[in-house]
Amino acid sequence: ARLVVLVSGSGTNLQALIDATADPAYGAEVVAVGADRDGIEGLARAERAAIPTFVEKLADHPDREAWDAALTAQVAAHEPDLVVLAGFMKLAGPHFLGRFGGRTLNTHPALSPSFPGMHGPRDALEYGVKITGATLFVVDAGVDTGPIVAQVAVQVLPDDDVASLHERIKTSERRMLVDSVGELARRGFTLTDRTLTLGDPA
Ligand code: GRF
Repeated sequence: ARLVVLVSGSGTNLQALIDATADPAYGAEVVAVGADRDGIEGLARAERAAIPTFVEKLADHPDREAWDAALTAQVAAHEPDLVVLAGFMKLAGPHFLGRFGGRTLNTHPALSPSFPGMHGPRDALEYGVKITGATLFVVDAGVDTGPIVAQVAVQVLPDDDVASLHERIKTSERRMLVDSVGELARRGFTLTDRTLTLGDPA
């Protein structure tokens, strides 16, 4: 399967996917990496792996709709089977969802439906939950609301601050992302309402 990965930051989830795809049995390859900003480690990781990159900045367009259309065209040019948002800090717009809806995955560093939005680890810590985690889901028009593909639980430790908790979540998040994307790529899947059904094992 052909994967296009979109990033906005450090790209450790992207790196985990790149590392996994070194094994041909994984069943997927990262054919391009896109971003909404330049100068980020996520793009550098792609360049080091000789993966084509593109950048589509909101500020270079008259409005969000034009940006959404341009981003959609950039992704479409690489003909992905699946799109993975790996720390991509923008909402997918209507053009994007029209083209890639149902086959765009995102990860959220909390156990949905708890703590949606930009600050999952901070919000979990402030609430005082003792278990949080990460959620892989199919992107829809909402904020972290799409059909859930996989979840992993992570303990909150007494001495945690936001950074230490987020790092522990990310360790589990990367493993979940790699395992699930590989399985979806190898087996294929159908999505009916909120239920994702895997195809037959290859
Ligand atoms: C991940 O925890 C992701 O869920 C969140 O931002 C982090 C991205 O990390 N939205 P990285 O860029 O993959 O290292």
